Amino acid sequence: MLHSWSVQADWNAPTVIGGEGARLHLEDGRSVLDFSSLAECSNLGHQHPRVVAAIRAQAERLCFVTNAWGAAPRAELAARLLALSGFAGGRVFFTSGGAEANEHAVKIVRQATRRPRGVVVARDRSYHGATHLAMALSGDARTAAQVDAGAFGVTHVPPPYAYRCPWNSRTAEECADRAASAVGERIDALGVANVAAVIIEPNAGSNGIIAPDRYWPALRRETAARGVPLIADEVMSAFGRCGEWFAWQRHGETGRPDAMTLAKGLTGATVPLGAVVLGAELAAQLEHEALQTGLTYCGHPLACAAGVAALRAYEDEQLIPRSRALGAELLAALRAMMQRHAVIGDVRGGHGLYAVVELVEDRDSRAPLAPWPATPVGLAALTNAAMDEGVSFATRGNLLLLAPPLVIAEHEIASALALLDRLLGRFFPSTPGGGA
Ligand SMILES: Cc1ncc(COP(=O)(O)O)c(C=O)c1O
Repeated sequence: MLHSWSVQADWNAPTVIGGEGARLHLEDGRSVLDFSSLAECSNLGHQHPRVVAAIRAQAERLCFVTNAWGAAPRAELAARLLALSGFAGGRVFFTSGGAEANEHAVKIVRQATRRPRGVVVARDRSYHGATHLAMALSGDARTAAQVDAGAFGVTHVPPPYAYRCPWNSRTAEECADRAASAVGERIDALGVANVAAVIIEPNAGSNGIIAPDRYWPALRRETAARGVPLIADEVMSAFGRCGEWFAWQRHGETGRPDAMTLAKGLTGATVPLGAVVLGAELAAQLEHEALQTGLTYCGHPLACAAGVAALRAYEDEQLIPRSRALGAELLAALRAMMQRHAVIGDVRGGHGLYAVVELVEDRDSRAPLAPWPATPVGLAALTNAAMDEGVSFATRGNLLLLAPPLVIAEHEIASALALLDRLLGRFFPSTPGGGA
């Protein structure tokens, strides 16, 4: 087999045979604390008993029925998603994962706006998936050469990357405003009638950008003023990861997009599932004409049953407020760690259990430890050493992405952070407080 995002000849990851809570059990008898929810997706931890039971029960009742027919767990899950998001009168299209959800959001919104080849505005330093249109949407240095975004009708604008602001803004707020205005300006330059949609991640992104607070509402105003639908890619940021069911909800109604895409935490990653959730206005445009798309497995009953059980678990176990509270503590602990390690240039996030730590060569110049998107040698050595000590951390380039399952115990967070603190000192020794 081929392992994703890996050099095949160097691949030496462990084999996992089971899991429980935030821990994964390995074939060699060890157990590892998962501090990234694997691909920021196992929000409910591993083998959540209620979700596993729901999958088993659905398998015994009915494994599959095509999406052209009805299925009880599919209808229930769609209704729950519309209720949780407040998209009254909207509709849900299920897919098998996040890339497919973004592909379908674009396809469906192009149909609904009667702009079948309308341009889609997306952002640099973003990630929307690894199928071809999703790669075109992504502003991702790893895959940019594989796809001609323009041929897919996609154009990119600079990101609200306040730590390295593309406009050299002096404050995060100014950077956010410039980035939001850039979307409006691009739409105007293209001509509103030629633009089908804007697709952007409202908060967390696997490329490590966390927009300043005022960005999303400002972006919403820019797109609404021009009547261009805004699609929120919530594949990673939803289901508590950013402290809300959906990250845009942090801004209340001023943050409501016209559509959003989901995957990952939707089933706690137990069974592959993605979704496009359309607001009422877009849904109304599709009521009396054939939807020109479909997937054999869209709305697979086993996945939808897992989704229904996952939503109940988030709710009953109060995991979303828990993530909010623990996220704030995580951020505070990382800021304290920053005082001890000059290699930490920036710490961001923490609205929920998702935080990004950006490592730098020099804190004053903000010179990166390695050119993006390469992983610095010291960071690779740190994560290998952490794994040897039983904690799995995710990285991307110069970034550590901290995103443990929302069920993680507080003492587990404390022990992972103590290990990180120790390993930062070992692999990036510096004068305490140096460069601060
Ligand atoms: C924001 C975002 N969108 C889309 C995707 C793609 O999802 P999938 O890997 O399920 O296709 C990801 C995956 O990391 C993501 O983080």
